[in-house]
Amino acid sequence: PRPIWLTRHGESEFNAQERIGGDSDLTERGDTYAHQLAVWISEWASKVRADGYDGEVVVWTSSLKRAIRTAQYISQPKVVMRALDEIDAGICDGMTYQEIQEKMPDERAARESDKLQYRYPRGESYEDVIQRLEPLLLELERTKLPVLIVSHQATLRCLYSYLHGKVKEECPFLNIPLHTLIQLTPKAYGCEETTFKLC
Ligand code: G3H
Repeated sequence: PRPIWLTRHGESEFNAQERIGGDSDLTERGDTYAHQLAVWISEWASKVRADGYDGEVVVWTSSLKRAIRTAQYISQPKVVMRALDEIDAGICDGMTYQEIQEKMPDERAARESDKLQYRYPRGESYEDVIQRLEPLLLELERTKLPVLIVSHQATLRCLYSYLHGKVKEECPFLNIPLHTLIQLTPKAYGCEETTFKLC
């Protein structure tokens, strides 16, 4: 059974400023994660090759700089997929939660009352993200190779919850930490999970 790995991008400049969305670059810590991730994947590939298997891994990243940079040191084929981009926060893109609370308290309240269906003005809801991921999930099922997905918290919440067969109402609240590689191995029912904290 082939593993599917999920990881958020390394820490970005916006993460460090607690801002949502944007297209900022990695911080130094984020870049360290990118290096460690590449080492981890290459060690995994060497191990399976020693056991006589092909060590090929397909790397799928979002189209955002922080995800592409997180995969930059991995020497395996990479595909950029816009479907993996972070939830579009519309008019709130680039703001902190504190700023949203102060400038748009109604938006904050609406989101709190229904986080799954709440759509940012000129942006997306979790329901929208779940829908845009559907073709990618079909592709994931068709691909027989191990796949490493480098994406973002909201998007990964949706993928993780689908792969674990969770109800979608839970998905906006799942915790997908930074600098952690989640390994899911599909089994007859659901997935076996192992996590690796890399830095
Ligand atoms: O957009 C930033 C986060 O990755 C999503 O977090 O949906 O809990 O606000 P949130």
